[in-house]
Amino acid sequence: MPGFRTPICDRLGIATPIFGFSHSPDVVAAISDCGGYPIFGVARETPEHIEREIAAIRARLGSRPFAVDVMYPKLAGEEPDLPSARAKISDQHKAFVDGIRAKYNVPPATRPNFFSSEIRNSALIRAQTEAVLASDADAIATAVGLPPEVVAAAKTRGKATFALVGSVRHVAAAKRAGADFLVAQGYDAGGHTGPIGTFTLSAQVIDAAGDIPVLVAGGVGSGRQIAASLAMGAQGVWLGTAWLAARENHTPPKLLERLLRAGAEDTVLTRAHSGKSCRVVRSAWTDEWAAPAAPDALPMPYQHALTGELLAAIEEHQVEALVYEAAGQSVAWFGEQTTVAEIFERLTAETNAALDRLRERVARL
Ligand SMILES: Cc1cc2nc3c(=O)[nH]c(=O)nc-3n(C[C@H](O)[C@H](O)[C@H](O)COP(=O)(O)O)c2cc1C
Repeated sequence: MPGFRTPICDRLGIATPIFGFSHSPDVVAAISDCGGYPIFGVARETPEHIEREIAAIRARLGSRPFAVDVMYPKLAGEEPDLPSARAKISDQHKAFVDGIRAKYNVPPATRPNFFSSEIRNSALIRAQTEAVLASDADAIATAVGLPPEVVAAAKTRGKATFALVGSVRHVAAAKRAGADFLVAQGYDAGGHTGPIGTFTLSAQVIDAAGDIPVLVAGGVGSGRQIAASLAMGAQGVWLGTAWLAARENHTPPKLLERLLRAGAEDTVLTRAHSGKSCRVVRSAWTDEWAAPAAPDALPMPYQHALTGELLAAIEEHQVEALVYEAAGQSVAWFGEQTTVAEIFERLTAETNAALDRLRERVARL
């Protein structure tokens, strides 16, 4: 595969500086097979599951590197379990969610998922972190917050650290903590994201980062954007939405259809997913929560305590109107289901073509 390289490739032992975030072990393995750097997201996993999954990924990847990503959100409360969190939720909120269930005829879930069985609290996040630190993953990525003690603990275990930053103000904290790599994740990105557009954020973060390599995340779906990121001084790109369209992600059918049809204007920032601002592909779920009569979404972790069971049912039964997933404006570039290898081939070929065009067409005066 004709790739492109930057200095970070030698430092990390990869062929091409395309970093891929995914919750799917099959996507993680395929990204590594293509010479990229995979990041396995475990924010939706229990500590026991994390331990097993990381061991299985290591067995598939051999000595090739991968990172594991943990979320460090500020929480609005510390409940020990789901029932005690649910007990704090107003009847108005419960009635609103029951109304959505009835309106769309959602059958009950027959199997639990993370959101219908776990509550996010500090103990869970600590246990997730310990599972990652105790594993032989090569690196840890910190999102939605950057605890310096996690960076320090990773270093003592010989792990590299990636810090996702959504504002140039976060760069100083990441430097102080000793992060090895920065990921400038802009407004365009799928998942929890801040208000600053990727193009603006990346240039600012690259300037502030000094010698720390920066990766660009948010809205990247084409090689021209990769070439632009390299031109700005980034050493690579970090993609999340792209892989939802890959067969290796095993995206359920109705959700896949929605994602493949979506254009850049079909994603929305909503608090209705987790209680924090999160970019997802628009569906009746986000529309219902955006309606004038809808209550405000609850802060994290209460929103999932309220909606987890219904979301598990919507996912299991693939309720067409309501299915959604975190997705960035990059969704516009993924109109058909392909494979991770095909995505890599397109991105690397487009990047090289864009770099060639720059060399041919842009002359210094
Ligand atoms: C389905 C999905 C889930 C995500 N979950 C997380 C997460 O748990 N932790 C994290 O750091 N980033 C998460 N992200 C964001 C990615 O790390 C990445 O920054 C983002 O996808 C880049 O923008 P893009 O979606 O336009 O490619 C998620 C993205 C998607 C699409």
